[in-house]
Amino acid sequence: MKEQVEALNQKYKNATAEELLTGFLAEYKGKIALSSSLSTEDQILTHMICQIDKSTKIFTLDTGRLFPETYELIHRTNSRYGFKLSVYFPDASQVEEMVGDKGINLFFESIENRKQCCNIRKLEPLKRAFAGLDVWICGLRREQSVTRQNMQRIEWDEANGLIKLNPLIEWTEAGVLEFIKVHGIPYNPLHDKGFPSIGCQPCTRAIFPGEDIRAGRWWWENPETRECGLHKR
Ligand code: ADX
Ligand code: SF4
Repeated sequence: MKEQVEALNQKYKNATAEELLTGFLAEYKGKIALSSSLSTEDQILTHMICQIDKSTKIFTLDTGRLFPETYELIHRTNSRYGFKLSVYFPDASQVEEMVGDKGINLFFESIENRKQCCNIRKLEPLKRAFAGLDVWICGLRREQSVTRQNMQRIEWDEANGLIKLNPLIEWTEAGVLEFIKVHGIPYNPLHDKGFPSIGCQPCTRAIFPGEDIRAGRWWWENPETRECGLHKR
């Protein structure tokens, strides 16, 4: 599979994000999906995908701890593009057991607790969302984090047995904002209030001027551990 992915990276070396999506959406129709956190990057991908093939699956993981603004954005995005984002929820009994055992805000107490919460609220639903897929589209950018420097446009995701497509991997923050503005794409109003990267409400804070764009995610942890496990390498 590694060689196949290498060949695909060569084939699409000079392709734009739209060209890359057009090729993959045709080749893997019915077996390809975008996971959206409603970030600006994912909103751009949603916009592009809707121009190419509206029947493509686009899903989000509702952890139960999202910002009210994120829920409102799900609604606005559905209205704008005339579709319904697929929403995956965590398994209720697993959440009840975890919260009963360790409390509602267990994640602040240890990295282990935080990973347990991310596992139950994100990774287990993600596994269900992957059923029947060959390709997983994400909005990752290299610029976002020290943990994302070596990522490629097209990767083989060993852990999930999927081809992972990162069409915006080389995009800059400025390029993202420009595209959002030019195309009038709906975005989270928290971005204008100091939140460049948004996840769950208790685990996200606004950043100070000059801080790293992901400094507000799991801000109490070291930068090296600040990934929820969705994007293992
Ligand atoms: S995270 O690992 O820190 O949470 P980030 O917010 O940067 O990830 O988003 C990176 C990519 O992970 C997004 O473009 C999206 O593909 C996926 N992702 C993250 N959170 C979610 C979510 N709640 N639902 C669906 N996809 C998500
Ligand atoms: Fe739980 Fe925080 Fe992970 Fe959300 S980001 S699933 S609240 S630990």
